Amino acid sequence: MTTYKVGCLVGSLATASINRKLCQALMRLAPKGLEMEEISFRDLPLYSYDYDSDFPPAARAFKAAIAAVDAVLFVTPEYNRSIPGGLKNAIDWASRPYGANSFARKPSAVIGTSPGAIGTAIAQQQLRSVLSFCNSPQMNAPEAYIQFKPGLITDDGDVTVESTREFLRDYMSEFHAFVARVYTVLPRTASPSGKLKPE
Ligand code: FNR
Repeated sequence: MTTYKVGCLVGSLATASINRKLCQALMRLAPKGLEMEEISFRDLPLYSYDYDSDFPPAARAFKAAIAAVDAVLFVTPEYNRSIPGGLKNAIDWASRPYGANSFARKPSAVIGTSPGAIGTAIAQQQLRSVLSFCNSPQMNAPEAYIQFKPGLITDDGDVTVESTREFLRDYMSEFHAFVARVYTVLPRTASPSGKLKPE
């Protein structure tokens, strides 16, 4: 099984984030072929293209972290029927400067949890639109809209409901297969600018 590095972007900055809990659960359920780590965007200032000629250290570090992984997993809450501002800000940083979009040709997947019945569905659709513009090949299926109920995931990232645990395990296996497929048809010859180098 080929191993791929996956950077997790957790959309919430909250200390008790249920989406970070979900991310911890996904890390535990991932197949051996996925090496997962969270990439924090907490220290990023608000993006402006005034920075494009000279990114601050936090933004350089963030962009380097995205560049270092083979794929990105977005685990996001829904805030006011969209993605949280902090996550959008992080995506804007990584997509710039123009011509150096870190998401270009980098496979991604989207998942999220909310106490509400639609489990972040609207935020996920909006995120998919952003990722399309960023030219990130996205896993289309399975979709995963997780309704969070108290006790669903322990502080250690253990999923207490077996059907949900197996669904999430399958989701991560599918993500591994998807990443492998993307790199079969799009070998890693892309430069940091996202433009393909000649073979
Ligand atoms: C919410 N919440 C929420 N839930 C939802 O299903 N749809 C929504 O549009 C919103 N909007 C919203 C806005 C803001 C500003 C907050 C703080 C919360 C509730 C949300 O799902 C809940 O607080 C989750 O706990 C957020 O996930 P994290 O941050 O705990 O991972």
